[in-house]
Amino acid sequence: MKINSTLRLTLLLTLAVPVVAPAQTDTNNAALAAAAANAVSETTNAPDATAPASNAIPVLQIKADQVAAKVSPTLYGLMTEEINYSYEGGLYGELVRNRSFKANPTNVLFWNTVGGAAICLDTNQPLNAALNVSLKLDATKASEKSPAGIANDGYWGIPVRPSTTYHASFYARGKHFPGALTVRIESADGQKVLASATVPKISGQWRKYEVTLTTGAVEPSKENRLVISTVTPGTFFHKHGTVWFQQVSLFPPTYADRANGNRPDLMQLLADMHPKFLRFPGGNYLEGNFLWTRFNWKNTIGDVARRPGHQDDAWGYWSTDGMGLLEFLNWCEDLKMEPVLAVFAGYALRHDYVKPGPDLEPYVQEALEEIEYVTGGTNTVWGARRAQDGHPVPFALRYVEVGNEDEFDRSGSYDGRFTQFYDAIKAKYPGLQVIATAKTKTREPDVIDEHYYRSQEEMEAHAHDYDQRSRGGKTKVFVGEWATRVGSPTPNMAGALGDAAWMTGMERNSDLVIMSCYAPLFVNVSDLGKGRSMQWKTDLIGYNALNSYGSPAYYAQKMFSTHHGDEVLATDSQGIPTYTWQPPARRNRDGAAQPPPKQEVPTLFFNATRDSGSGTIYLKVVNRQGTPQPVKIAISGATAVEPEGTATVLKANSPNDTNSVQEPAKIVPVAEKADGLGTDFTREFPPYSITVLELKAK
Ligand code: AHR
Repeated sequence: MKINSTLRLTLLLTLAVPVVAPAQTDTNNAALAAAAANAVSETTNAPDATAPASNAIPVLQIKADQVAAKVSPTLYGLMTEEINYSYEGGLYGELVRNRSFKANPTNVLFWNTVGGAAICLDTNQPLNAALNVSLKLDATKASEKSPAGIANDGYWGIPVRPSTTYHASFYARGKHFPGALTVRIESADGQKVLASATVPKISGQWRKYEVTLTTGAVEPSKENRLVISTVTPGTFFHKHGTVWFQQVSLFPPTYADRANGNRPDLMQLLADMHPKFLRFPGGNYLEGNFLWTRFNWKNTIGDVARRPGHQDDAWGYWSTDGMGLLEFLNWCEDLKMEPVLAVFAGYALRHDYVKPGPDLEPYVQEALEEIEYVTGGTNTVWGARRAQDGHPVPFALRYVEVGNEDEFDRSGSYDGRFTQFYDAIKAKYPGLQVIATAKTKTREPDVIDEHYYRSQEEMEAHAHDYDQRSRGGKTKVFVGEWATRVGSPTPNMAGALGDAAWMTGMERNSDLVIMSCYAPLFVNVSDLGKGRSMQWKTDLIGYNALNSYGSPAYYAQKMFSTHHGDEVLATDSQGIPTYTWQPPARRNRDGAAQPPPKQEVPTLFFNATRDSGSGTIYLKVVNRQGTPQPVKIAISGATAVEPEGTATVLKANSPNDTNSVQEPAKIVPVAEKADGLGTDFTREFPPYSITVLELKAK
């Protein structure tokens, strides 16, 4: 079946399982029964119009002597793909846009001329088979007064900071051109030179040239450009000098000083979440629209000047593949995350699937070789290649995911494709856990990847789904993409509240839900028109060329991922208020819209975990209402709880409140001393709030 990304989203939403009223569970049955009993009829589905069902104070009971489950140590991780300029124009440090001139086969995109220069693409002077085009500069009109050259504005600007060293490099060859070339970072209008260096001589053969550019006491800014220019029109005898360029690059300092590395501020935001794994390389980006635009890992390794790049047609822009397989693995290493490697499984978004059997075998082999590149010793073919690429030590790998959202392959081929991959992977790597992305019949996957993109109300209505999921088989759950899609470009407080409600459910059930990751992770917010810097709304972290910020949902997640302990405690509750929600009508086969029955949805969500080492209990409470919510908390099975603890609170005045590049810290968690705690106490939870209470129990 042919399917594009927009259609896929539509299908995803249309096919979403109808919302059912949260059912009763071991740990929360009393809460939900009480919630249903207390339901009032005059509530609405508007997030800010909810009202408690009665004046009785809800009771949360924590049974400190009953461990309901272990918290999966890998519960919170990251999902990533090239979407919304996540790497190029995002995490990947490169500042030059279209550095290899391959973004468009006929036009020189994102490059301008300065002085009287003329430029064009030239396929007659390729650098190599991968970078098989170059930029031809005619310097004939260059003069001392009017240097001629090329200029690049970067990804919506080139960020400049004071006293900072940038590394510029390019390949060039000249004809009737002796040099010199001046490399500058200058203001976009050319009025201010912020850093400058000179390459004195250009060879008649392709050579790589490298310079460092160091800024002085400049103001941080992003309205800048990189310019390479000359005052020399040509040699003494031939005043028509020509220079060809390829792989023109500018790197700022990177996280952990990695060559070809990542942007430090974004890496720090991720590091602060303490993520345990990275799911890569996609998402739709793994699949591409066609077999030949899939993430073809072999084209993403080795010298960046020999990587051909490819059209990221899932999201509509060129990728140089500077962020390749080894870069993903280095990213894991830098943040101490384990890789969750998704392998291409013979299904592209707009292409017929590859039939299981001999036709699929090359893709199975490609996946096995990819696993060998990641994990193999240097005595293996692909392990040796990884060593040659700079990383002799194999990476630890436990999880391999076969495809992405393969339920969209309506041919039903996934069962056969999964079986072929599963058998081959298990035969060669019996220790690996294999993740399926759709239901299978022939093989029981170790893990199944489930995706949820929902409104706040849907997230809340589903927050207890996993309480009822059968624990019968061996298959664990990986919630490999999820988000409350409220707010753009990044989620607002309503999004954070929906997420937090959902996370209480995943955490409570993390014997089953062993991994989860929000998606998408990143968005470049520089140009929010359709098809520009954002392809998908509601992304966890936003940035422009210079600055970055975490959304309220980012902070909600950080609160959960840094306070989860290792044991889920049994809980119970009474008197949880609810609101009435009308789930949206979905079209049936005849096109008629049928409104499903209304539902009672809790307005308060909670979960209790414990750090078995210290005894600290983490009680997470989400109040989605616009009014303060007093709650009685009763802890049984603990000898005592110290009267003082810590409350980390994320709250807003309105569910629409949000963070942005201009106001990056409008909504951030605040840790405060909490007193009056004990085995039995009442605490008021603020309107629109997410709280982690740290209780020191004995
Ligand atoms: O996260 C955005 C997209 O949503 C992913 O690429 C895809 O897997 C899903 O449909």
